This record gives sequence, structure tokens and C-alpha cells, in this order.
Amino acid sequence: VSRAAYDEIAGWYDEVIRSGPQSLFHDLVLPAVLELAGEVEGIRVCDLACGQGVVARALAERGAEVVGIDVSKGLLDIARRYEREELRGISYVLGDAQGLAGVEDASFDGVVCNLALMDIPDLEACLSAVARVLRTGGWFVFSVTHPCFQTPASSWTEDENGNSWRTVRGYFAEGFWRSDLPEGIRGRVGAYHRTLSTCMNALSGAGFALERLTEPQSTGRLAGEVPGYREVPPILVARCKKLRVEG
Ligand SMILES: C[S@@+](CC[C@H](N)C(=O)[O-])C[C@H]1O[C@@H](n2cnc3c(N)ncnc32)[C@H](O)[C@@H]1O
Repeated sequence: VSRAAYDEIAGWYDEVIRSGPQSLFHDLVLPAVLELAGEVEGIRVCDLACGQGVVARALAERGAEVVGIDVSKGLLDIARRYEREELRGISYVLGDAQGLAGVEDASFDGVVCNLALMDIPDLEACLSAVARVLRTGGWFVFSVTHPCFQTPASSWTEDENGNSWRTVRGYFAEGFWRSDLPEGIRGRVGAYHRTLSTCMNALSGAGFALERLTEPQSTGRLAGEVPGYREVPPILVARCKKLRVEG
């Protein structure tokens, strides 16, 4: 995903999050991420690839001291505008997750990265930067589109009985791809697909231990709109603990 990709769609992305038609985000993703982050009162948390700051604000409202970092100036401008409108003590910093230059070692108790690891070309560089800025014993919570079901050639189909099926191909085709649905995020900016084993091995390689995984199932309103979400999880959410610094 090019650096400028989200600058070009910053206003649109903010509108998507704000107006909530993408109820997947508010119904399933955000609650799952906040649940795995757990109690955050009084601790220092980095919202990595924070976008317009929706997760940062949710964490700050739960009492965390939050720093949001993102590579998109356009989205950071929007995040800062929200902060000016209602002060929550969040600071926003322009930075690249693949290094986090200028961010001090061991300066966070927790790092959250919501729906953004798929946007970052060098996963290993990103995870070693996350490990570096976390204190030992600190946690890393992230959500990604589910690597097993959101592959470069997957789609929903419906059988003659009206049942939804997820058909999956291209699981092993790691790398950049772009959805052929032009109106969605992944049609607009593309994504990096990685297998589950690539993701998990990269985490342990960077010095993380997996503590918990969740694959939220939709049962409510969202399942009415996309019945397949009752059958197949659209996202994977993980909580990991930093054991040591890589290298
Ligand atoms: C799908 S958006 C998610 C934004 C936010 N976490 C949320 O939940 O709304 C992906 C974000 O990743 C950011 N991003 C992409 N590459 C990045 C990088 N190398 N460093 C930091 N942020 C990056 C984009 O600018 C964008 O804000």
C-alpha cells in the first residue's frame, strides 16, 4: 500500500467509520479489539496505524494515555480535529510502523493495531518495531482481515437453498492484491495477503508469545446483512505478550 494511499481517501474513510454503514467495524471489530486490550486505565498505549483515531478515542475514554501513530497526514489531520473538538489527552504523531523512528524503546505498556497490518509491506520490520517500543511483558493486540478467508481470490456465493458459502482460492499467493470490488477499502487501497503461519511465525520471531486469539462470529444485525458472517469469521484478533527484544 503506497504511503499516500490513505491520504487520497482520508475523507471517505472517516465518513465510513463515522456513519457506520460498515457495521462490521462497530459491531464486530472494535468490541473484539477492546475486549482483548482489557483494562487500560492509567497505562500508556500506542494506537499504531491509528487512522482517524477511532480506536485511540475508545482507549482514551477507558482511561489510557494514548499516542496515535500513522503514516497518513490526511487521516492524522482528521484525528487531531476530533481531539481539538473534545480533549481526551491523545497525541498524534506522523510515523512509519516499519521502524517507528523517534519512538523511545520500552515506552509503552500496550500497542494496538487495528485492521492495518495488511496495509504494511514489511511485517517483520513492523513487528520488531512494536517489540522495541513495548516494555518487556507489555502486550500487543491486533486485528486483521482473516487470513484464511479473505484471500486474493475469495468470494461469497449462495446455493439454491439461499445458504451463503465462502469460496476460497489463492491462500498461498502471498503479497499485494487488490479486491475487484472498487467501492470497498481493499478495492481502493489493496492489501498484503499473508498465510496464518507467516503471521504467527513473524510474531514469535519478533519475540511475542500468543496469549489469546478470537474469531468473532456475527449473530445480530450484521448477520442479517451478511449471513455468511454467521458461518465464517471475517476477522482474526490476537493478543500477544512481549517476551524479549528481537536481536
Ligand atoms: C484500514 S486503516 C485502519 C485505521 C485505524 N486503525 C482504524 O481502525 O480505523 C489502515 C491504516 O494503516 C495506516 N498505515 C498504512 N501503512 C502504514 C505504515 N507503514 N505506518 C503507519 N501507518 C500505516 C494507514 O494510513 C491507515 O490509517
